[in-house]
Amino acid sequence: DKGQSLKGKHFIVTSGGTREPIDPVRFISNASSGKQGTAIAQSLLDRGAKVSFIYGASDVPPPVGANAITIGSAQDMYDAVHQALPADGAIFCAAVADWRPAQAGAEKIKKTPGETAAPSIQMVLNPDILKSVAQLDAATRPQLVVGFAAETEKLVEHARAKRQRKGCDWLLANDVSPEMGTFGGDQNKIIFFRSDEPQEWDKMSKKGVAEKLADLIAKEFKGA
Ligand code: C5P
Repeated sequence: DKGQSLKGKHFIVTSGGTREPIDPVRFISNASSGKQGTAIAQSLLDRGAKVSFIYGASDVPPPVGANAITIGSAQDMYDAVHQALPADGAIFCAAVADWRPAQAGAEKIKKTPGETAAPSIQMVLNPDILKSVAQLDAATRPQLVVGFAAETEKLVEHARAKRQRKGCDWLLANDVSPEMGTFGGDQNKIIFFRSDEPQEWDKMSKKGVAEKLADLIAKEFKGA
């Protein structure tokens, strides 16, 4: 019984893809559908939790009942996440752009007639939102910080290192090689890390992953 196992708990969930402006009409983004993050927020809501759902570009609408905050860039998402604190838990499902154009022009970049050369885009690093929250001091850090790792190779090795580097408690790694159909699809295959020891989950629907994760979270907070 899902019941009200997370009643009174506040979770931040990030979801979807960020958009990094090049100029007022162009941006750099990714193929995130927002389906997994939305399903996780829904499963937390179904257990009575309060959810701050901070989301970028998505193919699906935000879950009803969440405090849904829509953002554009990674920096916007960073600001919204830190404003939503304090929280008992934070689940970072968003596909955040690692880099953004160093300068987003105020005017549309013009193509000069007869021009043969193309402009090049100088990029700078975006802040790592997950890491910034996982490494907060104990007084403000959510009790449970969960990250995702989308990998196309050396999944276990990279995911284990990522969990340590970012300082999150749990990490869900998924294989996003094109043949897996994870990006945009409805199925997901997860390797779950709550320690350095990988736990393989069966391939299941994104809804299934969300339910399994929410059950683990409820269990974690029951013990606390
Ligand atoms: O480093 P990488 O992008 O593979 O890390 C993935 C995890 O970190 C995901 O949980 C993602 O939501 C989060 N992330 C973030 N801010 C970034 C980059 C990634 O919160 N700038």
